[in-house]
Amino acid sequence: MSYLSVENLSINLGEFALKSLNLELDQGDYATIIGPTGSGKSILLECIIGFFTPEKGSIILEGRDIVNDLPEKRGIGIVYQDYALLPHLTVFQNIAYGLRKIKKNIIKGKVEDIAASLKIEHLLNRKPGTLSGGEQQRTALARSLVVNPRLLLMDEPFSALDPGTRKEIRQLLCDVIDKKCTTVIHVTHDMKDLWALADKAAILRQGKIIQCGAVRDVFERPVNKFVADFVGASFWEASVDAKSNGITNLKLGDFNIFSKDNAAQGEIVKVAVRPEEILLYNAPPDNLNGDNLFKTRVEKIKCEGDVWAVSVKIGDTKLLVNSTRNMMSGLYPKPGDTLYARIDTDHVRIVR
Ligand SMILES: Nc1ncnc2c1ncn2[C@@H]1O[C@H](COP(=O)(O)OP(=O)(O)OP(=O)(O)O)[C@@H](O)[C@H]1O
Ligand SMILES: [Mg+2]
Repeated sequence: MSYLSVENLSINLGEFALKSLNLELDQGDYATIIGPTGSGKSILLECIIGFFTPEKGSIILEGRDIVNDLPEKRGIGIVYQDYALLPHLTVFQNIAYGLRKIKKNIIKGKVEDIAASLKIEHLLNRKPGTLSGGEQQRTALARSLVVNPRLLLMDEPFSALDPGTRKEIRQLLCDVIDKKCTTVIHVTHDMKDLWALADKAAILRQGKIIQCGAVRDVFERPVNKFVADFVGASFWEASVDAKSNGITNLKLGDFNIFSKDNAAQGEIVKVAVRPEEILLYNAPPDNLNGDNLFKTRVEKIKCEGDVWAVSVKIGDTKLLVNSTRNMMSGLYPKPGDTLYARIDTDHVRIVR
């Protein structure tokens, strides 16, 4: 049995509804929930912690349905984007807030421990109003973690922080969560959170989980066009033309693409390709080793800091490519130019 099992959770709020939602986590799992604005991510967290009562369904935590328990009886912590610290209390008192029933000398040890893990031990006597955003969020995290929650929920906890602070807090959080083996559900719009922290990702759309699985699986094998667009993959429908020597030959509009994945002759399948797994060349490379090679026309190029997002077309089919600065050097493509796109047959994934 799973550590947390959300089963058929449904709530109707008039214009919005969570629709028979299911989610399973093992102890120590770090799951991220991603999805467009208004898809129900915050409502899902608030149902799990008990601020909303679902109309149907159960939330089974460690073998017991907690759906009728009061929020404070559930042993679940929540961290929001705004740190929600108590301004008249010191950092120490804020962190110790959930430990009131414990002996004073034990409280001191626990607060100092978690403060050291999150590198805020030097701030314990300060008031929240004197802290930076990153320091306040580390205090909020410490307050939630010091009680060893059975489940930690986080709703866009880093969105108000600058990229450098985010990176630093991610690392600190990662270490503490690993050490404590905390089970986490983290709502985010930042894919860097997924890669740095999560084992699992669930994609929510209009109150429904469209796909849930290992982060890599969701990115490499999106189940439909919506998820593919969300995780930035190219996604097409294709039919299986032929098979030989472990290679599946897929017909995709006016061209064919080869995949190492298996499918039956004549089968209609979905195909996904990740943009960072495609190489671009000015001229056809010599040694292809059986890789796919397509002559493409450049449509758009956008520098996104560390990567170049290049949109190319093979005939009428759009292909998204992400290239690092290094890989782009020497190419200098402009819209309308011809480039050759190389895709390893391992990276052409058949999705079911
Ligand atoms: N108390 C409520 N009554 C009715 N509708 C609500 C209530 N709270 C939220 N909603 C609606 O439910 C939908 C989902 O809201 P939710 O806050 O869960 O979205 P979200 O996925 O967290 O979005 P974001 O990424 O912008 O935070 C929204 O359309 C919102 O307007
Ligand atoms: Mg939200």
